[in-house]
Amino acid sequence: MEKPVWWQDGIIYQVYPRSFSDSNRDGIGDLPGVTERLDHLVWLGIDAIWLSPFYPSPDVDFGYDISDHTQVDERFGTLQDFDQLVDQAHQRGLRVMLDLVLNHTSDQHTWFKESRSNRINAKRDWYIWRDDKNNWLSEAGGSGWTFDPHTGQYYYHSYMPEQPDVNWRNPEVREAQLQVVRFWLERGVDGFRLDVFNLCFKDAEFRDNPGKIGLRPFDRFKHIYDSDRPEMMPLLKELRALLDRYPDTYAVGETFMPTSEKSASFVGKELLHATLSFDFLQNRINFPWNPKWLMERIMNREKFFSREKWPTTVMSNHDFPRAAGRYSRTEDDSQAMQAMTLLLTLRGTPYLYYGEEIGMRNLRLRRDQIMDPPGKRYWPIYKGRDGYRSPMQWDDTTYSGFSESKPWLPVHPDHVGRNVREQKENPDSLLHFTRKLIRLRKEYPAITLGDFKPIYVPQRQVMTYVRKHEEQKVLVAMNFSRQKTRVLLGPELSIKNWRALHGGTEEPANKQDLFEIPANGILILVAED
Ligand code: GLC
Ligand code: CA
Repeated sequence: MEKPVWWQDGIIYQVYPRSFSDSNRDGIGDLPGVTERLDHLVWLGIDAIWLSPFYPSPDVDFGYDISDHTQVDERFGTLQDFDQLVDQAHQRGLRVMLDLVLNHTSDQHTWFKESRSNRINAKRDWYIWRDDKNNWLSEAGGSGWTFDPHTGQYYYHSYMPEQPDVNWRNPEVREAQLQVVRFWLERGVDGFRLDVFNLCFKDAEFRDNPGKIGLRPFDRFKHIYDSDRPEMMPLLKELRALLDRYPDTYAVGETFMPTSEKSASFVGKELLHATLSFDFLQNRINFPWNPKWLMERIMNREKFFSREKWPTTVMSNHDFPRAAGRYSRTEDDSQAMQAMTLLLTLRGTPYLYYGEEIGMRNLRLRRDQIMDPPGKRYWPIYKGRDGYRSPMQWDDTTYSGFSESKPWLPVHPDHVGRNVREQKENPDSLLHFTRKLIRLRKEYPAITLGDFKPIYVPQRQVMTYVRKHEEQKVLVAMNFSRQKTRVLLGPELSIKNWRALHGGTEEPANKQDLFEIPANGILILVAED
């Protein structure tokens, strides 16, 4: 294998700018705020940051409804602040990735304003206008078609009516969008996260989606005509060819309605570098958290992601309840540590979501505090995504060091005991554990480059696997139960020179191939033949 590039052996940290750090006391995080906090990420060992949208936006979908793709929303700062952030990040060896939303714009974008002004406008065809609607639904609820009385036609939106989908079949749209990509590449960004890229093309004939069984109305259709159209592939190739003109750049796609198989089909030498994993993301709070379920998910991903298709690992992001709160109802971090161990020792690029390194939990909000539109619409069945977007917990002050003014979303009350400052002082904290794992990942190529092999042990509550690269083997064993347990490893692993990297003594950890793992414990061993 060739020498790994930064996005293969590096760790990417997702910053949700609105909630990371507020430099000018308006209660909203901003780009200078991110710049001020870069040293925390360097201390942690991060290689790149991905910034969720900071472009001008009416905030119907909190930044994912963009009204100008090549500007900074004044609440987040200016283009100069952006340049400053990129410059400061690069000086520290951190890469910067942006969120590219190519499927839709805000209805306040000048493109759409022009498009909707009259039927003969030059930009009419930049969006999807039809006399009749078909049965395609919006992911945000209701029909995907909204009637515009002014011009007497329907326009299509995969999400909220305020987020009209652009018409990628129009060559001018294609050129304008690629121009956006060039704009940011020229400004020095190192990569992009592509928002729901596989929605960009819809069926040219607008055929109705066939029905199926499902819980939400949206799930009662097979989304074969409103997504994943083959015309996507040439676009991905064009995008990749453009990126390849800028050395060391990277594109990771967010697959709409993902399966490992589908996500893998978009990755390749001429396609995307990677796609984001949804293997461990779940909306349900009562989430399966046991070795059997996790191993099934891992093996399913392993099946479709070969060495040429580099996987990613994601435990949390801005759309799903935070992992630490999915698995544990208390402030106990043992499960968060196991989730962190998976994130940082599985094969693939780890994506850390801001606050994950200190085990931030999901915030509970009253109905009148909900900001996220789907949360407002579907309460109490679905409470929206605000709970996992609360201000970063830097310290135990009133506004958790995020701001000196009242933040746009409340600070989680547990910030008094759970924050960066305190965890930095406690060597047993999740923060130090995360930093240690990141260091191990860099030190032992088996963890970044190695093959993945599950190891069978009779205990149902124990998960064991080996990562192997050349002569180096790293063994990870986790005990998901509340009792300590002893694990006997089979003959293939009965090597006498295992050395503990975590959770054991410095002495060889096993005398008779018998490992003891404490309740909820994590053992990481290395052997170099
Ligand atoms: C992606 C984003 C999500 C947004 C949606 C529409 O799924 O992650 O936050 O609501 O796209 O842009
Ligand atoms: Ca601010």
